[in-house]
Amino acid sequence: MIHIAPSILSADFSRLAAHAKQALEGGATMLHVDVMDGHFVPNITIGPPVVAALRKSVDCTLDCHLMIEHPDRYVAAFADAGADWISVHQEACVHLHRTLEMIKSRGLKAGVVINPATPVGTLVEVLDMVDFVLIMSVDPGFGGQKFIPSSLEKIRKLAAIRQAVRNQFQIEIDGGVTQGNIAEIARAGAEIIVAGQAIFGDGDARLNTERLHKVANEAVMAKV
Ligand code: DX5
Ligand code: ZN
Repeated sequence: MIHIAPSILSADFSRLAAHAKQALEGGATMLHVDVMDGHFVPNITIGPPVVAALRKSVDCTLDCHLMIEHPDRYVAAFADAGADWISVHQEACVHLHRTLEMIKSRGLKAGVVINPATPVGTLVEVLDMVDFVLIMSVDPGFGGQKFIPSSLEKIRKLAAIRQAVRNQFQIEIDGGVTQGNIAEIARAGAEIIVAGQAIFGDGDARLNTERLHKVANEAVMAKV
């Protein structure tokens, strides 16, 4: 069963809760919250106050993707705001193990993220402690970019490592997902699929989510 995680980065911020709810009505079980600081990535987005506002208005998992330097300094603020999942970039964490422990100590699901140029193998030492691994399929910073095809091989590689070492983490993919490529992404082994433009761009967010979910689930069913 695939989970669709709508990225609110592409939602209409002037009616954020209502727009996000449309995607949830389409079968999404979580919202993906892209936090950018203008340092780790060349864009600035949102922080804990928006997470707190969403927490009050939607009843779903809030998956907070921190694209920021020194994420350890902000884990408590996002936890207090109501984040359920927090992921941090391998590239931004000098003490990755410590930062992941910090997230887990708050009772949240902890994830690690890798950029397109970062090999899956750099995560081997933390795979037994994370709840999910997020593979970036675009260079982080903006919604609506083109999917980097080599990400598919990274998903397959990570799924193979997981099978070999019998870890339990889930595999999430983020960036450039469309109606046209989601089947291939699901077949490669991604279980949580983030989509921004494909949901909140053109058309109706509920219908877009329903369609993505259907195509992804059918692709996985056809595989088994
Ligand atoms: C990129 C963000 C993504 C992005 C996904 O830095 O992490 O979550 O918003 O948006 P789309 O699906 O439009 O690529
Ligand atoms: Zn993201």
